Amino acid sequence: MQRNWLKPLVFTLCLLPLVVLGWQGYADRLGANPIETITRSLGDWALRLLLLTLMMTPLRRRFGWRWPPALRRMLGLFAFFYALLHLVTYLWLDQFFDWGEIWLDILERPFITVGMLAFVLLLPLVLTSNRYMMRRLGRNWKKLHRLAYVVPALAVLHFWWLVKADVSQPLFYGLILLLLLAFRLPARRRPLAARTRG
Ligand code: HEM
Repeated sequence: MQRNWLKPLVFTLCLLPLVVLGWQGYADRLGANPIETITRSLGDWALRLLLLTLMMTPLRRRFGWRWPPALRRMLGLFAFFYALLHLVTYLWLDQFFDWGEIWLDILERPFITVGMLAFVLLLPLVLTSNRYMMRRLGRNWKKLHRLAYVVPALAVLHFWWLVKADVSQPLFYGLILLLLLAFRLPARRRPLAARTRG
């Protein structure tokens, strides 16, 4: 069945958190610490979208649906978009582009170090997320795109180190990531099982 409406719908939904933030800013409803609210909301959406991206392949495998893989790239790019805005908010509104302070933060605050690492590792994924690079890299493309699991793992650690006391939210995201990883394992072992049976 043709689903021409699906991509525009998901595109619009992905923009919604940004629209809501913009509206909250306009209506002066960002709370006592607007910069923190903006940074946190953008970080949350970056992580949620990273996990949603990873859900697409298991959905296709489990239910045989053909539409999830078609959304994977868009979701991944939106995850990057939110991570980039999250980073820019930190650099601009939080640190006023004070590169000395930023550098010290990266070196001395582990949760910033890990967030930065997650962002840097996201870059090769974004740059190679097109068909041309897929063809050029061949088998190495799949190897490189295993980073798609490393990035959210680092983001969960980044979140965990930030909250310190109440770890319920990073724990929740971490469990989802573990489930997604667990889902991938049997699929990779299946050929081995088939071999031993035969
Ligand atoms: C893939 C990359 C990243 C993801 C997915 C991510 C995700 C998150 C999440 C989920 C939070 C917690 C939000 C909450 O408390 O509800 C957070 C907080 C934060 N992140 Fe990131 N992050 C990333 C990269 C970065 C980078 C590169 C920096 C800066 C160098 C950064 C700086 C911060 C800061 C400063 C906070 C705390 C905000 C506050 O409490 O004021 N993050 N991030």
